[in-house]
Amino acid sequence: MCGIVGYVGPRPAAELLITGLRRLEYRGYDSAGIATLDDDCTLHRHRTVGEVDNLARTVAVGGAPGSTGIAHTRWATHGIPSDHNAHPHASSAGDVIVVQNGIVENYRELRAELQAFLDAENRSWQSDTDTEVIPELISRQLAAGRSFEDSLAYAVGRLRGANAIAAFHRRDPDRIYAARKGSAGGIVVGYGEGEMFIASDLPALLPHTTSVHHLEDGDIAAIDRDGVSVRRSGEPAFKPTPREVDLDPIAIARGPYRHFMLKEIHEQPRALSDTIRGRARLNPPNALPSDLNLSDATLREIERVLVIGMGTSLHAAMIGRWWIEQIAGIPADFDNASEFRFRAPLLGPSTLVVAVTQSGETIDTLGAMNHVRDRWGAPQVVITNVDGSEATRQADASIVMRCGPEVGVASTKTFVGSLAALYLLACRIGRAQGRLSQDDLTVHLEQLLTAPSLLERGVQRAERCSEIAQLFGSASNFLVLGRGIEYPLAMEAALKCKEISYVHAEGYAAGEMKHGPIALLDHQFPVIALAPRGPLFDKMTSAIQQVSARRAPVIAIGDEGDDELAELVDHFIGVPPAPPLLTPFSLTPVVQLLAYHIALARGLDIDQPRNLAKTVTVE
Ligand code: M6R
Repeated sequence: MCGIVGYVGPRPAAELLITGLRRLEYRGYDSAGIATLDDDCTLHRHRTVGEVDNLARTVAVGGAPGSTGIAHTRWATHGIPSDHNAHPHASSAGDVIVVQNGIVENYRELRAELQAFLDAENRSWQSDTDTEVIPELISRQLAAGRSFEDSLAYAVGRLRGANAIAAFHRRDPDRIYAARKGSAGGIVVGYGEGEMFIASDLPALLPHTTSVHHLEDGDIAAIDRDGVSVRRSGEPAFKPTPREVDLDPIAIARGPYRHFMLKEIHEQPRALSDTIRGRARLNPPNALPSDLNLSDATLREIERVLVIGMGTSLHAAMIGRWWIEQIAGIPADFDNASEFRFRAPLLGPSTLVVAVTQSGETIDTLGAMNHVRDRWGAPQVVITNVDGSEATRQADASIVMRCGPEVGVASTKTFVGSLAALYLLACRIGRAQGRLSQDDLTVHLEQLLTAPSLLERGVQRAERCSEIAQLFGSASNFLVLGRGIEYPLAMEAALKCKEISYVHAEGYAAGEMKHGPIALLDHQFPVIALAPRGPLFDKMTSAIQQVSARRAPVIAIGDEGDDELAELVDHFIGVPPAPPLLTPFSLTPVVQLLAYHIALARGLDIDQPRNLAKTVTVE
């Protein structure tokens, strides 16, 4: 979602800021903008719809001198993507420049309040955004004689909703400011030699520094070229101690792959091996032996598990529910975090809530976690790919996947990372509860250790997926069917098709198909059937027969060498046979590659699909 970068130091700011924006492009955006201040306090502001390249061209022509500045990629929430809605926004007096990530929920109320001042001065709003109230609020306080920091703190205090903000004062070319309220994606301060940076996310900082400080909820920061001073809820200002991060910039390069998504699909075997390393021990059998900060005594008290998440993480949660029931042997359920937080379900301290969020910053999931803490005090575990993310700070315990940075907007390797963590958690709970014997635990862990090779062999089916995509690339609809543990995967396959191929696709439980969706089927409506051999295979083949009887073409993904199935369907993709609980690992790469190749056949922008954001920090 929106990206923020800022710079103060001796070097020309514009080039650094634009490079920083490029490194945040993966978050998703529809317009971009930059504002720099030169030594004479002349403001240079440029804003353009579309790609950062457009902004770079505009800056090359118009110029943006100065060694202080802020820049932004916008993902529209209030007001269409347009030059005038793009950030940075300025106060009507032109003295305060602001970029923002988040939503000002009470912006109508604030606009109405500020309208009287604008009317009195014969000025008007310059955009349709909620953001514009922020520089206006700050400017009014400056006019009343308050310092910039006090004015920013006042403005932040007036905003409802989660927001991250960067700003500068038109008459102060030596300083930029940042503020964080709630969980709107955060702000990281980067420490250079005689220069300082800010950004929404680490990739924008890594070419310059690995020495960083994350602002916390409520922080107001003043940054000059020598450092940062932070004010937190009325306490005296302090200079935070930076910490070193070890993200490898090489790991976020695309290498020989045409798209990050393809690279990340291929990285899955390694991401899975890294995630389970040291966490699936066989002698003696032990799952998550050291890094789950919850005691066996706590896990023994649990009577129920609720797994929550959004999008791909929700699909992982659905599979996790299956494993917790089957492996741990206790009641489990899943829920969409954005719905769960507004329901009044009956939890209690004996329910363990497991939040799945690769970014650790998804506002719906964080909102649900808050809801759990405030209302029931139930213990919470988060499964995430980002150590130190907001979700890890809120949860009682974390399982951090080790997938490395995921740049493609469509989650791929973090899906399998989440699955691995959920599987291990199910084993650990089952053992702590005494419902899973040592021998059964050994079998489950041995099976999990084969998962990287299942993924490896699945990834090798790229060519076959490409052939199928050539045949069906122009289809307008897909139905994806699965049963049991493959049903959530059918939903994930459909989500991937929607996200990157912009094709309408529905994931359905195969048994549900005849209760309505079957009416849609004809010879132009391809159906993808997930049909590995397993306890529900016969029921899947019945559903396939019902589809074929309506002349809809069937693409089945089943066990390699399953000639019977191959003969039953129009097109067949074989995957390595897997134990019944492990089929999500054998099937996942193939459904991802199918969506990828369909998008490729349709000539789409795979790593930055329209309207989507990597980290969804607004409701
Ligand atoms: O960071 P999270 O896992 O919490 O993100 C949740 C969803 O926004 C995310 O999975 C989204 O659906 C992806 N674009 C899926 O590819």
